[in-house]
Amino acid sequence: MPNHNIKNNNIPTAIVVFGGTGDLAETKLLPALLDLYLEQALPDSFVIIGLSRKQLSDEDYQDFVRASINKKGHNHNDELVNAFCSHLRYVSGAFDDVSAYERIKTALSFFDESIKQCTNKLFYLAVPPQFYKTIFTNLAESQAMKLCDSIGSWSRLLVEKPFGKDLVTAQALEKQLCSLFADEQIYRIDHYLAKDAIENIISLRFANSILADSWNKERIESITIRLLETKDVANRGSFYDGIGTLRDVGQNHLLQTLALLTMSPVDIHQPEAVRQARSSALQLLLTQKPDTVIRGQYRGFTETAGVNGDSETETYFKISLVVEAPTWQGVRLTLEAGKALNEVVNEAIITFKPLDICHCAFSHEAHYHRNRLRIRFSPEQEISLLLWTKKPGFYFSLEARELELMHTDSTDTHSPEAYERVLFDCIAGDQTRFVSGAEVESSWEFITPILETFLTLPLYQYEKGSSGPAVE
Ligand code: BG6
Repeated sequence: MPNHNIKNNNIPTAIVVFGGTGDLAETKLLPALLDLYLEQALPDSFVIIGLSRKQLSDEDYQDFVRASINKKGHNHNDELVNAFCSHLRYVSGAFDDVSAYERIKTALSFFDESIKQCTNKLFYLAVPPQFYKTIFTNLAESQAMKLCDSIGSWSRLLVEKPFGKDLVTAQALEKQLCSLFADEQIYRIDHYLAKDAIENIISLRFANSILADSWNKERIESITIRLLETKDVANRGSFYDGIGTLRDVGQNHLLQTLALLTMSPVDIHQPEAVRQARSSALQLLLTQKPDTVIRGQYRGFTETAGVNGDSETETYFKISLVVEAPTWQGVRLTLEAGKALNEVVNEAIITFKPLDICHCAFSHEAHYHRNRLRIRFSPEQEISLLLWTKKPGFYFSLEARELELMHTDSTDTHSPEAYERVLFDCIAGDQTRFVSGAEVESSWEFITPILETFLTLPLYQYEKGSSGPAVE
């Protein structure tokens, strides 16, 4: 992954946040921008313009952001937080109100004029997906992304997932986006690609001969990716109902993790090559139908504010298949995710095939001597390898031991929050950790038929705080 020094590209930058007072902006984006500011990783000269329907002045918005930052808890010096907040401006307006875009342009021109330079422009869509179409159209028609000077500066668009609701809507959105903006302007976010722990998949696979040489269908038996959460949908009921877990985290986070686990070796310093490799990895699944699909809903979901009383939306899924494509033929893949479960587990488990003959085991215990690599992304970053060793003592028999390779609290380096990385990379113009249009399309091509089969499958109920539906 290229390492960028923002100061090599120190062009004044305006960051416009659509949904500037929304949950994502409040809990992730603005704290990430503050952290980038404190790490001196933002350009020296910058302005952040929040946009939402609320009637606020610049000062009100600064107070809102200050309060949000304080609510989250931090140990930063108040003066520095105030200095950061002095870069905040606010524009009030609805996303379908064309005059709001004129006000954004005025705020952008004001910044340009104040520093007498044509600045870079970054537009972040931190809004529910139903507004994308309207915002894309209005941004294009208002020419808000048009630069005053095309030499040396840029304008870019950051789009949050979910990108579409199925293959057809994703293709339509992609078509609209690409007809209005150039590909190099579009940054499609999957914050999992920007997670430090997920990126470790690349170093493990490509920097260690012991793993690189075994990373193939001859040695790997199965790959399991799990994203289990204890939190329920909380106040996101109206977003979640009709979306469900497969669209919310399966089509994107789990499949992107899978792509990193199964892509061919590639020069990771070449953004386009990496995106192409991930895309090819996803294409291996295209026409495959899982042999196991389980979906569930936690009891009480339909009583959540914003959720229909008879909602059939899943809050849990587990899908499993054996890969048919030659590169990974015969390897079993399992993807599992759910809300309101009894534990937080976000991990990939790679199980290696056993030796044909395990020379040091007794025949009755030989069948289960597999090595297993567990890469845990959260709650802690942890990598462990299950090895078979001799059980200490007079008699000879084997026992499984976990070799722990890494733990978050054993490192003291700052691990940038995924949203810091997203913003930093977009400013640096590096698309490596962003999803390409081809990746979006392949992932929907795999997921859409599964969503269609959902309608014919039972929706198992499970208790909150349990391990999910009790079926196998
Ligand atoms: C988001 C989903 O994209 O990812 C949430 O919308 C989910 O429902 C979250 O909780 C998980 O991400 P993280 O970074 O908390 O593991």
